[in-house]
Amino acid sequence: MSGAEKVRTAVLISGRGSNMASLIAAAQGDPAYPAAITLVVSNRPGAGGLARAAEAGVATDAVDHKAFPDRETFERALDARLRAAEIELVALAGFMRVLTPWFVTRWEGRLLNIHPSLLPAFRGVDTHARALAAGVAEHGCSVHYVTPELDAGPVIDRETVPVLPGDDAATLAERVLAREHVLYPRALAEAARRLRGGQS
Ligand code: GAR
Repeated sequence: MSGAEKVRTAVLISGRGSNMASLIAAAQGDPAYPAAITLVVSNRPGAGGLARAAEAGVATDAVDHKAFPDRETFERALDARLRAAEIELVALAGFMRVLTPWFVTRWEGRLLNIHPSLLPAFRGVDTHARALAAGVAEHGCSVHYVTPELDAGPVIDRETVPVLPGDDAATLAERVLAREHVLYPRALAEAARRLRGGQS
């Protein structure tokens, strides 16, 4: 697939960026991958993922939410960066800011998120502890389109792991994270193909 046909994708992070790294590796490692990661943006200037992205040769930017008086002003600045970079698809990867309906509507059908649970179960935070407390036998992760309702948009794909005797939130999180790194590259490829095929 030629560079011009690839979907120009930005990854938004807040922290270490292990999912971001898996997306960059997938996109750079396969000439036929339908998306190119052309920008990584963090709302935290010190996020470890920014250095990882730069090492991989991807352009990085920080839009510090603390520098803006409210959520929407921050999002307008973020949106301007994405538009200036001619971004077509946005992948949230551990981006720990709730987005307003303004931003979500503006990027409708072009905004993905990875969430550490088998949606629709366990929307929101502390998913691993809540899965253990609920006594489920299976847990996992989901990639979905973002809609104004938190973690409630259409699911693109999921990966499942067993909950094992003796698990705590940390061991379960580690098992899920390993599947996140397989799931997100697959789901982003699917979303990019849908975008080029005119569906979303
Ligand atoms: C991942 O486990 C991701 O699923 C989760 O944050 C972690 C980020 O790790 N996202 C959420 O909880 C979103 N509500 P990473 O920075 O290493 O990709």
